[in-house]
Amino acid sequence: QLTGWTGSPILVGVIGGSGLYKLDNIQVVAEVSVSTPWGAPSSPVTIAALPSGVHVAFLARHGRTHSITPSAVPALANIAALKHLGVRAILAFSAVGSLREEIRPKDFVIPSQIIDRTKGVRRATFFGEGNETGVVAHAGFGDPFSEELRGTVEDIVRETLSQTNPSVQVHGNKTVVCMEGPQFSTRAESLMYRAWGGDIINMSVLPESKLAREAEIAYVLIATATDYDAWRPASAAVNVAEVLESLKANVAASQHVTLALLDRINALVCDDSSPAVANIKDSMRMAIMTRPE
Ligand code: ADE
Repeated sequence: QLTGWTGSPILVGVIGGSGLYKLDNIQVVAEVSVSTPWGAPSSPVTIAALPSGVHVAFLARHGRTHSITPSAVPALANIAALKHLGVRAILAFSAVGSLREEIRPKDFVIPSQIIDRTKGVRRATFFGEGNETGVVAHAGFGDPFSEELRGTVEDIVRETLSQTNPSVQVHGNKTVVCMEGPQFSTRAESLMYRAWGGDIINMSVLPESKLAREAEIAYVLIATATDYDAWRPASAAVNVAEVLESLKANVAASQHVTLALLDRINALVCDDSSPAVANIKDSMRMAIMTRPE
């Protein structure tokens, strides 16, 4: 918990992706520069108060001016900073490319699976060789997102967007491919990811979601499609201008969605015995391989 903090417990953290650098529609009440054993997070953490009095935390994954590449995001510090504040659930936003015709640019996707195509250059564990804990652990990651929260998030996003952005569709149970970048994929790679069963592609869900699992924080990705990547034969391959154009349209929708989600997700994690909390709390106890001497 944050020293000196007298507000309500901060149980839900939002990580903003490309285009979502702050939450315009929620009142910011504090800004904290957290330092962690893994360095400083991508941005100061803002604490915001919902009209209900619930407090939430917000962090900009690529920094507030988008100065941090996907490979250089300080994911250990970001997760550690949110853990330090007492966060129990993370709603992580990310711009993604679509690998499926039916997932149209500007649509929202709440994925259930990940295919790892990062290149091993990103540190992906709080444990392991040369680590600060001296302990080796193998966290379960078969279901990489919170199975307890994912469906609820999908329902709330659908409900909200049906009112504010009726042309936007919401897709659940999809697979996100996470690639290293920063360049986008070749057409051949894009076709390969489709053949593998990938539905959307980004550069940021890893190692963030793995580290959240190790930190025993429930994690859900809210992906917003910005482009059709490079697999469509008749279309130009994705470029930044196209991504930015969709992002602009998506930011307002993301802000509506966030406001609608926060109170309800907070209510699902404020009780220690609720499944979203109980099923992940102490899960790392069973993941540690190192034996005491
Ligand atoms: N983020 C947004 N669009 C993307 C794409 N096509 N590939 C990887 N990451 C992305």
